[in-house]
Amino acid sequence: MNLVLMGLPGAGKGTQAEKIVEKYGIPHISTGDMFRAAMKEGTELGLQAKSFMDKGELVPDEVTIGIVRERLSKEDCQKGFLLDGFPRTVPQAEALENLLVELDREIDYVINIEVDKDILMERLTGRRICKDCGATYHLVFNPPHQEGICDRCGGELYQRADDNEETVQNRLDVNIKQSQPLLDFYETKGYLRPINGQQDIRKVLADIEQLLGGLI
Ligand code: AP5
Ligand code: ZN
Repeated sequence: MNLVLMGLPGAGKGTQAEKIVEKYGIPHISTGDMFRAAMKEGTELGLQAKSFMDKGELVPDEVTIGIVRERLSKEDCQKGFLLDGFPRTVPQAEALENLLVELDREIDYVINIEVDKDILMERLTGRRICKDCGATYHLVFNPPHQEGICDRCGGELYQRADDNEETVQNRLDVNIKQSQPLLDFYETKGYLRPINGQQDIRKVLADIEQLLGGLI
């Protein structure tokens, strides 16, 4: 199962990805997570990515394509993959096409989680993440049972550095501009499958599972 998960910041990509990879046993490849891990380790890649992410800008294509190329070539991707947040530009999508030809693979679906941009600000500024296991919560829409503590592992919850109002606004502007040409690219190729992301988290998952049922 070779999947791409698209959606504006806050659409619910990470939330759904967590559940999809658990159910289907495929690796979750999130470029945002990879950049954040590199930042935490203080590597050259992390330093480079930080200057863009702090402002809500996209990391340059050549850097992003490089890390995805390396990751997709790893053995665990033989059984499939879920790309989350990549590609985000048409050059990235073209690079992915070439890479998949080299690997003799093909995308099954590009799932686009559709959410009206007006509700994304609230979703992002209310998001909290577990520092130990990465599980995602929301103060209002998906709160943990105990405030500030992860249900799954007991870890402490934190707010992402780019989830402040000013950076979120720029992330939304940048991504809205980039996403339409990319959606057109995948629509033309026949891969695109829209999913209504303005429903309860479990209902969004059920719709995705229904779609993926056709692949098994
Ligand atoms: P990245 O980490 O990919 O962030 P993003 O695209 O901005 O998306 P988010 O992770 O913020 O949102 P999400 O859709 O995963 O939402 P979530 O499930 O958490 O990228 C970060 C940065 O890295 C970029 O700005 C860029 O600089 C760089 N980058 C990454 N990839 C790149 C690329 N390919 N090229 C260039 N640069 C790149 O949900 C959000 C909140 O809503 C949560 O609190 C959740 O609990 C809640 N929620 C989820 N679903 C629902 C629902 N159905 N109803 C109510 N609440 C919900
Ligand atoms: Zn946790």
